[in-house]
Amino acid sequence: MKQREKIIPLASKNVLEIGIGSGLNLPFYTSEVKKLTAIDPSKELWKRTLVNTQQLPFNFQFIEASAESIPAISNSFDCVVITYTLCTIPNLTKAFSEIKRVLKPTGKFLFCEHGKAPENGIQKYQNIVNPVWKKIGGGCNLNRNIPTLIEENGFTISKLETIYLPGWKPASYNYWGIAKIK
Ligand SMILES: C[S@@+](CC[C@H](N)C(=O)[O-])C[C@H]1O[C@@H](n2cnc3c(N)ncnc32)[C@H](O)[C@@H]1O
Repeated sequence: MKQREKIIPLASKNVLEIGIGSGLNLPFYTSEVKKLTAIDPSKELWKRTLVNTQQLPFNFQFIEASAESIPAISNSFDCVVITYTLCTIPNLTKAFSEIKRVLKPTGKFLFCEHGKAPENGIQKYQNIVNPVWKKIGGGCNLNRNIPTLIEENGFTISKLETIYLPGWKPASYNYWGIAKIK
């Protein structure tokens, strides 16, 4: 929740959240947001939300969809938000190409993710555990290098912060920040 608090309030205007899950980010959006469109391939997860979306201070729409095929016209969002989802998306190349299509050229991409740790020892452990973790964790990967993936897929990161959250080190190295289309 502390991580969400750092990144979600930076969202403004017409926003797309990818992989909303059960909506844990919703309380952190401010009235700077005019409309929030949220997508997730799992309607089941979304149904578990505890948030009354009627009471949000902006228009809200949930659409059952994946990042690899975003049901929106090109250049339609001022901001795309993603948290703890880049670890799971199966086809990141397709997903980033869709994000670049729907995000306005001047728009911002806000992210907060866990991923590849900086130490060799932890990285080795992440790589060993990953196949099993992925199976039991709904497709989640422990060892994705999030900043590199963002940069390799056509974005420039203008702000990046990292931290180990308390807990099991292989799953707790967090990256968060802001990126723009190159
Ligand atoms: C660990 S949960 C994170 C949920 C939420 N973003 C959060 O921060 O609490 C990962 C989410 O990614 C979603 N997801 C999985 N594959 C996806 C895809 N291809 N496109 C978009 N979301 C996907 C899952 O359904 C799930 O809601």
